[in-house]
Amino acid sequence: MVTLVTGGAGFIGSHLVEELLSQGREVVVLDDLSTGKIENLPESDNLTFIEGSITDRELLVNLFDSYRFDTVFHLAAIASVFKSVEEPVETHRVNFDGTLYLLEEAKRAGVNKFVFASSAAVYGDLPELPKREDMPVKPLTPYGVDKYASERYVVNSFSLYGLKATALRFFNVYGERQDPSSPYSGVISIFINRTIRYLNGEKISIDIYGDGKQTRDFIYVKDVVNAILIAENDERTNREVFNVGTGKETSLLQIIETLKEIAGSVPPVRFLPPREGDIKHSVADIRKLKQLGFSPSYTLKEGLERTFNWEKAKT
Ligand code: NAD
Ligand code: UD1
Repeated sequence: MVTLVTGGAGFIGSHLVEELLSQGREVVVLDDLSTGKIENLPESDNLTFIEGSITDRELLVNLFDSYRFDTVFHLAAIASVFKSVEEPVETHRVNFDGTLYLLEEAKRAGVNKFVFASSAAVYGDLPELPKREDMPVKPLTPYGVDKYASERYVVNSFSLYGLKATALRFFNVYGERQDPSSPYSGVISIFINRTIRYLNGEKISIDIYGDGKQTRDFIYVKDVVNAILIAENDERTNREVFNVGTGKETSLLQIIETLKEIAGSVPPVRFLPPREGDIKHSVADIRKLKQLGFSPSYTLKEGLERTFNWEKAKT
């Protein structure tokens, strides 16, 4: 049996691949390298990398004919909310059509399990906190709308076609290999990158949009991988949607404080006007996943420390 990871050369996908390989599993990665990098993937005889797009139907048909996949972990997406706003048609093709094509192939091939990476973006800016899976959703961007539509197709595949399928709503994921290069990259990757450049003598600031009191539910990538594996293995996840977070709210100012403890010092902070459409607070209710044994293993300080040390070792 072989396992397919779409988007496996990306930030979260590469951590999942690493874990699967460490368990001795045979893995195929399908990635078009639009944001992923081949260097993110480990060298292994058990790993096959296929460069291509989830929107290429012929390629998908050949791929599912060539391998007998046990599980499909579908993480490939245009993960930038900003890009989805700028280019809704192209992102829809990848984030929605691509998911539907993969579901069709998974169904046709009779795979054992389909796990889909959705997002907390489906909740939008409805004020009630913490976010529970059964709350109303109000996605505000093409990215959020496509994730929501996709997750409905994914979980409905169980009752409609008997495909065992689960959707996971990731909150703010951070960790090694997250790309800090765009202003719309994850805030922790940007803050760590800037801190290291500052320590290396660059004149640079940390920019905070707003007062820094906005909060997010930041989850370390290895805890996300654990959640993904629970979704794969626990039959109770079929047809269900789960939040993947820590259940803890952390402000940007707290992140900077913790980074200071780890790094010794941080760049000067510049406060800029809040970003258009920014949500003030976001935190997950994770009781549903906890009932299946999930519990985040890394504290924020541990996760930040590991990410910081990894980034520092690169310079
Ligand atoms: P990422 O950009 O590092 O990974 C996405 C991967 O998909 C990349 O390797 C990219 O090259 C690949 N890809 C993009 N379009 C493709 C296509 N058409 N065909 C094949 N491969 C394609 O981002 P990430 O943070 O690792 O995100 C992984 C998944 O998790 C995405 O579905 C994203 O929407 C979701 N997610 C991430 C976060 C987060 O905080 N990072 C939060 C919520 C949801
Ligand atoms: C994140 C995800 C998005 C997901 C959403 C769901 C990333 C890159 N984005 O968006 O995919 O849909 O969670 O909850 O992971 N900020 C600064 N300075 C910076 C960069 C950011 O102050 O240099 C601020 C932002 O304005 C925001 C906060 O930090 O208030 C978090 O930003 P970001 O990491 O981009 O994540 P979200 O906007 O929460």
